[in-house]
Amino acid sequence: MDLKQTIVCVSAVATIAVGALAGCTSGKPVTYQSDFKYLWPGEVRNSMGRLADHIRRLDTLLGAGAVGPEQRERIIDNLRSMENIADSLGAGPEVTNHAFIDDHIDDFRADVRLAREEVEREPPAYYLAGRLAGSCTGCHVLR
Ligand code: HEC
Repeated sequence: MDLKQTIVCVSAVATIAVGALAGCTSGKPVTYQSDFKYLWPGEVRNSMGRLADHIRRLDTLLGAGAVGPEQRERIIDNLRSMENIADSLGAGPEVTNHAFIDDHIDDFRADVRLAREEVEREPPAYYLAGRLAGSCTGCHVLR
């Protein structure tokens, strides 16, 4: 085998390996290799810690009585960050090495988005944002 053939061969094996791995760990259909996302050890825990921080900040912002324009912006920022965290955990068509997360992250992502849209609306509403901790229980009971 010359070098070029070797490279083609190695990349074919890698493609099959990634496809098989994704196929084994999740019920989602594997359409493209690029839909697979590997979550490193610690990455989930780190993201969870950040989600918990955002929930705490939301509680503080919402618990302080009337929500002014500045608090409203900070609430929107918090929700956006939470959406980004959900994306980094494979929300959407991505399949990860955590089948359990794959099964629940889209619902969570959708809940955060609805909450943000409610806050961005005129006039804004904070009902869903205030209940967002309830969406964490889609995956686990909070300690
Ligand atoms: C899609 C599923 C899912 C959702 C939604 C989810 N979690 Fe988690 N959470 C997990 C998994 C899985 C672990 C275990 C991570 C580990 O130990 O590697 C975890 C662990 C945690 C931990 C412990 C982290 C540590 O340091 O051990 C906290 C705190 C946490 N989640 C908070 C939250 C909060 C707050 C929310 C909602 C804003 C939330 N989670 C939503 C799946 C989820």
